[in-house]
Amino acid sequence: MNSSRRVALMSVVCFFVLLCCSAVSAQLSPTFYSTICPTAQRIVRALVRQAVANEKRMGASLLRLHFHDCFVNGCDGSVLLDDTQGFTGEKNAGPNANSLRGFEVIDKIKGIMERVCVGVVSCADILAIAARDSVVELGGPGWVVNLGRRDARTASQNAANTNLPGTFFSLNNLISSFQSQGLSANDMIALSGGHTIGQARCTAFRTRLYNEANMNQVFASSLKATCPRTAGNGDNNLTPFDASSPNLFDNGYYTNLRSQKGLLHSDQQLFNGGSADALVSLYSANQTAFFNDFAAAMVKMGNIKPLTGNSGEIRKNCRRWN
Ligand code: HEM
Ligand SMILES: *[C@@H]1O[C@H](CO)[C@@H](O)[C@H](O)[C@H]1NC(C)=O
Repeated sequence: MNSSRRVALMSVVCFFVLLCCSAVSAQLSPTFYSTICPTAQRIVRALVRQAVANEKRMGASLLRLHFHDCFVNGCDGSVLLDDTQGFTGEKNAGPNANSLRGFEVIDKIKGIMERVCVGVVSCADILAIAARDSVVELGGPGWVVNLGRRDARTASQNAANTNLPGTFFSLNNLISSFQSQGLSANDMIALSGGHTIGQARCTAFRTRLYNEANMNQVFASSLKATCPRTAGNGDNNLTPFDASSPNLFDNGYYTNLRSQKGLLHSDQQLFNGGSADALVSLYSANQTAFFNDFAAAMVKMGNIKPLTGNSGEIRKNCRRWN
């Protein structure tokens, strides 16, 4: 091989190494704030603990916020931007409107953060740490959170409507939705275990309740008073995903699926005679296996397309760009 060909080959190799590693996690690092704001993680932890002590469901709401951030143009805090006269953000997208919550908790964390470390800690990172701390507060696994995300100066209602999975999705739809974010079918099955905490509105499960045969009939009957058949009646009435332990992050979600007690159509798709059944059975029998896989998949989800370096900004207020 002559030297110019060797140089050409080397640059091709370098190009692919760079491409591969930037796709995995850009420049995020668990120690990103250890010199520039060493108390950052302690501040988030303390305020999440307080918020969850005040209302257990808040842990679920904060976990979901991070998910809805990451699936829409990456984990860039876009979900937190308020709509204004000239700007349409993501808060009123179909999957988010009248449903996402926890914004005040993030505001409170950000307010204290800005007093301690001015202009240093992004809203996107606060979301990622708060999601982990929420799971831990409710009895679930911990993991090391990669940090260094910056905040977007944009948001996309359209992408929120397109990229977030719907309750009416089939197993194949769910798999491809997660695959288009670089997450595997197994990641999707593990991450869906997030539905072991929190609540859903009647509108999210009414169609299943009155139309689907793969729903435990005792379970269905118990929900019909909360969620009447006729649209417009009780649309916002809430019911827990995991009735037996709604505020405990455990493997109850998978045990429920095995007895056809999945609340959403999309939940029960994971145990309906298809390719996801085996992993659901494993997780329902082995909570440690679920915890390990959930934690690893949360790290992967948190690495989706972060803004780093000079991209984006560190917002002063999570609801608006600077
Ligand atoms: C697999 C596709 C998914 C679909 C179709 C889906 C859909 C939904 C729906 C419809 C609700 C109820 C919203 C409402 O009625 O207001 C909900 C709540 C929730 N979701 Fe998901 N979700 C999915 C995946 C995930 C993932 C990956 C996570 C986190 C890892 C997650 C965490 C949660 C939590 C914690 C709640 C309860 C929030 C609260 O009580 O405030 N979901 N989801
Ligand atoms: C449960 O899963 C963990 C993690 O994969 C594994 O180490 C352990 O042996 C499993 N336990 C049983 C009883 O199979």
